[in-house]
Amino acid sequence: MPLVPMRQILDEAAKKGYGVPHFNVNNMEQAQAIMRGAEEVESPVIMAASKGALKYSDMLFLRNIMDACVEKYPKIPIALHLDHGTSVEICKTAINLGFSSVMMDGSLEEDGKTPRSYDDNIDVTRKVVNFAHPLGITVEGELGCLGGIEDDIGSGEEKLTNPDQVKEFVEKTNVDALAVSIGTSHGAYKFKIQPDPDKNLLAMNIIRRIHELCPNLHMVMHGSSSVPQELIAQINKYGGNIKETYGVPLWAIKEGIDAGVRKVNVDTDLRLAVTATIRKVFHDSPEAFDPRKYLGPARDAMKTIIIERYNTFGSAGHAYDYEPKTLEDMKIFYEESELKSSG
Ligand code: G3H
Ligand code: 13P
Ligand code: ZN
Repeated sequence: MPLVPMRQILDEAAKKGYGVPHFNVNNMEQAQAIMRGAEEVESPVIMAASKGALKYSDMLFLRNIMDACVEKYPKIPIALHLDHGTSVEICKTAINLGFSSVMMDGSLEEDGKTPRSYDDNIDVTRKVVNFAHPLGITVEGELGCLGGIEDDIGSGEEKLTNPDQVKEFVEKTNVDALAVSIGTSHGAYKFKIQPDPDKNLLAMNIIRRIHELCPNLHMVMHGSSSVPQELIAQINKYGGNIKETYGVPLWAIKEGIDAGVRKVNVDTDLRLAVTATIRKVFHDSPEAFDPRKYLGPARDAMKTIIIERYNTFGSAGHAYDYEPKTLEDMKIFYEESELKSSG
């Protein structure tokens, strides 16, 4: 099966009311864990590479690992997605590499740090859509700014999404999906105290309002790692030093999905699973030096988290629900919807 447009994976999720995890990938073990988990529970897959991941892997290596996933798992719908593209050029690079979806994160300037103005965000996002849609490629935009800084992404200043701007933004840009800022942040340090299910952790009112105003828009929750406490404890037990921190609990993510979120971005949880496992192997087997002896268990630990997310977000069991569309099908779809909206 060729790559599936992410738009279709999200459209299908919307029809049945579930969410699809987006997992970041940087290397072979992560990609295998994502695919092995998906095969086991029959989930569609959104595999994402950031600008940093492309740089780390010289692009070509990651692209070929992703290609191998498509070849080895021909029955599972897989979307390859660029995460947090900060310029038209990087989006074009990903499309030329063969990705079926790109995120133009126009909430930030090209440095990935400085907040961009609303008008410039519309402008740059529309440019990416104008390039991507005629090729059948899905585009995710972002409105508002997430809090927190993880490596190269984030201004450190949180700006919640204003629902009143969303309709205009979507109409002017024609994006397929929109990342919204509702109180999550990238990285491991999201909340200082344990989230209380009886208190409002995230701005769910924003999700609900946007869903009312734009019922066909696919909302995306970034910064949605749950930061499992047992992984933090394991890292610290075996020599790590992660300070007290809490992530987005699974109950909060489920609330978001019930309110209209269709894509849920997870990266940090897989990083924590790898680190916790490798630290334990090094501690328990100080004589080990074959990377397969620690990367193999790390891959299994990621798979456990991945399966839990497919099950909790509800995408498990839906891999074979639909006939996958091609990018050619999507070209026609976009041409027709363009004609409808102009006439
Ligand atoms: O949203 C950020 C993702 O976790 C990717 O992080 O830029 O360090 O690859 P990265
Ligand atoms: P986490 O850091 O919470 O895993 O978020 C990842 C993300 O939003 C990738 O775009
Ligand atoms: Zn993100």
